[in-house]
Amino acid sequence: MSQGFEYAYKPQGPVLEEYILSESQRTMIMGPLGSGKTNASCWKGFRIICAQDPDSQGIRKSRGVAIRNTYPDLFGTTIKDWLDMFEPLGKFKQGGMEPPTHHLLFKLDDGTTVDAEMVFLALDREDHIKKLRGLQATFGWLNEVKELSFSVIQMLDLRMGRYPKDVRPTWYGIFGDTNAPDTDHFYYRMAEEVKPEGWKFLKQPGGVKRKNIQAPWEVNPDAENIKNLPLNYYANGVQGKSDAWVTVNLANEYGYVSDGKPVYPDYHDPTHCREFELVEGLPIHIGLDFGLTPAAQIGQQMVNGQWRIRHELVTTDTGVIRFANELKRFIATKLRGFVIATITGDPAGDQRQAGDNEERTVFQLLDANGIKAVPAPFNNDFTIRTEAVATPLRRMIDGEPGFLLHPDCKVTRKGMQGGYKFRRVKVSGDERYMDMPVKNDCSHPCEAGQYLLLGAGEGVAVVQGSTVERTKDAEEYRKRRGLA
Ligand SMILES: Nc1ncnc2c1ncn2[C@@H]1O[C@H](COP(=O)(O)OP(=O)(O)OP(=O)(O)O)[C@@H](O)[C@H]1O
Ligand SMILES: [Mg+2]
Repeated sequence: MSQGFEYAYKPQGPVLEEYILSESQRTMIMGPLGSGKTNASCWKGFRIICAQDPDSQGIRKSRGVAIRNTYPDLFGTTIKDWLDMFEPLGKFKQGGMEPPTHHLLFKLDDGTTVDAEMVFLALDREDHIKKLRGLQATFGWLNEVKELSFSVIQMLDLRMGRYPKDVRPTWYGIFGDTNAPDTDHFYYRMAEEVKPEGWKFLKQPGGVKRKNIQAPWEVNPDAENIKNLPLNYYANGVQGKSDAWVTVNLANEYGYVSDGKPVYPDYHDPTHCREFELVEGLPIHIGLDFGLTPAAQIGQQMVNGQWRIRHELVTTDTGVIRFANELKRFIATKLRGFVIATITGDPAGDQRQAGDNEERTVFQLLDANGIKAVPAPFNNDFTIRTEAVATPLRRMIDGEPGFLLHPDCKVTRKGMQGGYKFRRVKVSGDERYMDMPVKNDCSHPCEAGQYLLLGAGEGVAVVQGSTVERTKDAEEYRKRRGLA
């Protein structure tokens, strides 16, 4: 680069590097505090500016727009970080009618000229939002994506690539950085559930991590950008902070929405959720929940005792007969060649159905439609059925968790992360919880999972303890329930 400046940048970790080099039209990075995200975003923008093809005059023209939720944040961090790196390459203007803009004008070593604008917009400013609507830009940088609304991102997405005019934009699109959002945030939905084509979602290692939800936080040796942070930044950062805060801001895990108490506090998404395939030769177990929104879970038990939930089937407003047909179709296509060992359902389905002329039970209706299910044992006892799931969740087998959930099971996953919960009730200032979970979209597949495990024998393990390692769980269970 001429004019006496030399820019050298070294990515401070592999995920940061992937972010900067990503060609995907939309790339987002999620990381803990201080992980170098903003710095990497600045650099990514700068690379795009320099890589833009020159026009016939040898000028590389482009326009970037950086978005932040509020004007104070825009000035306090976004603009400051950008100018810290690139101010000498152009003129920064603020005040007046136009949003703050850095006009970069410099020559590269190859004799071409870079003539670019970086426009900074804040969403709490009416005039900025107006400006955004009319903008012709090359790329957009979303600083702290989780603070922005999805409608802004949508609008921005379709305004990129309209500049420059005389040559095509060499690259155009949007990129953004963020701390971890909650599981009910659009970012979680996009990154973990929808995974839309043309979008890339990257996740940095946490600054701290822990083995399970009860274990202490430990500094993560894989954390990125450590070299540029104060000594013991993350170890000191944990001190005096709530678990929920550390989870999101330092461990870089999704936060869960806490308007209730999770039924499975032992579920720890990084430990319990990952991809795997069904194992040929091992039997399949299926659990069913009925009602207006029947649901199923489908899983296997490994030889070492580990439970694996591979599929969920969730429905809305489906009668039991249609549900039986859907399940039959699923078994015929996805489970071909496997032996179905047990199909276990909510024992409440054993009552005769009002409205059915012949007054048959759900189980009789299923049977008539080709699904041979049986009611779960233990009379629907709530503690036994939740413990049937919680016990394997807490269990470790040769360093592996006793329970694994496949990320395809999106509704179950949300449920396990706190969506399946006890509702909080206020009793004269006291915080109390209902003793039955809230019925919602998450509760149905989660309860189907309880019936699956009860039907496959985990309930007996809870109550009696059938192996050495289960004995301890059972003792715990008896103690909690006040049994001898
Ligand atoms: N490549 C780099 N070379 C030198 N210093 C860097 C580099 N990347 C980041 N830093 C420094 O590390 C610190 C944290 O970086 P940055 O602000 O980009 O992190 P962040 O992930 O955006 O943090 P936050 O979540 O707090 O916004 C800053 O002081 C920054 O100057
Ligand atoms: Mg930042």
